[in-house]
Amino acid sequence: MQKILVARPIFPDVIERLKQYFDVDWHQGDVLSAEELTRRLADKDGALTAGDPVGAAALAAAPRLRVVSNMAVGYNNFDMAAFNASNVLGTNTPDVLNESTADFGWALMMAAARRIAESEHWLRAGKWQKWSYDGFLGTDICGATLGVIGMGRIGQALARRAKGFNMQVIYHNRSRVAPEIEAELNAEYASKQDLLKRADHVVLVLPYTKENHHTIGAAELAQMKPTATLTNIARGGIVDDAALVEALRTKQIAAAGLDVYEGEPNLNPALLSVPNVVLTPHIASATEATRRAMANLAADNLIAALGEGPRAGRPPNPINPEVIGKARS
Ligand code: GLV
Repeated sequence: MQKILVARPIFPDVIERLKQYFDVDWHQGDVLSAEELTRRLADKDGALTAGDPVGAAALAAAPRLRVVSNMAVGYNNFDMAAFNASNVLGTNTPDVLNESTADFGWALMMAAARRIAESEHWLRAGKWQKWSYDGFLGTDICGATLGVIGMGRIGQALARRAKGFNMQVIYHNRSRVAPEIEAELNAEYASKQDLLKRADHVVLVLPYTKENHHTIGAAELAQMKPTATLTNIARGGIVDDAALVEALRTKQIAAAGLDVYEGEPNLNPALLSVPNVVLTPHIASATEATRRAMANLAADNLIAALGEGPRAGRPPNPINPEVIGKARS
């Protein structure tokens, strides 16, 4: 039987599925260190990860390894140049999380705009004495301008929801989406600068790449409206968190919603003392149904990539399909 590592705790029934095909080394404790992950990968044919960094050193130390299946749509934890150089396949779990993640983007944006978390903390602290006309005034969503940066599948699902709120949608993306998608979403392409100036609510849904590092920093925050909100459901590092803290403290922008952070789970401690930011622990895809779908898709990818099951040799979501069928190097 081929050997696989499952580097994280996941649904036990998915482990049972994997055991039908593989000898499974299931790590259920704290996140594996880079050294421990490398050691556990050394004798494996495949692995299932969830955000764990996998680079050249780990691949070099695992000569049998042919596939690493990430239980996430984002795969910035994979050094794809090293995967390609070694002919190791990477896979991810797109699509199944689009709607849950878009829902969550809205939840976070609305919580920031309407100061839900901030007012709840205040209420829980026993500070509510009387109704007041100017208590926790926020920014409207309905009729406002939504600015989506990153118009991929999740960005489109997010923009689609804006119709019900009668919003104007502007977006920025590496390249324009097809005219029929723009028409369906009633979305207008804008330069980043134009979007930052015009949007009442900016939501980030772009993948993390070196080029996207600090897409939003001090200069970009300075272009936004003082009433605007910023929501990041994409990846830590796309926003300069220190610059954001400053912009929130000085009310350069009204509020923010963050689900992802630079250096998570060790986020910038200054964020914890800023009231006008809603903080969640990287849970945008976290519904029972979606996380199950992601785990099963990650398993499908692994099973198929290692030549087993009904899709043997044809994993549904290869990131670098060009290495399929090539010998390990
Ligand atoms: C979660 O962050 C994902 O990339 O799926």
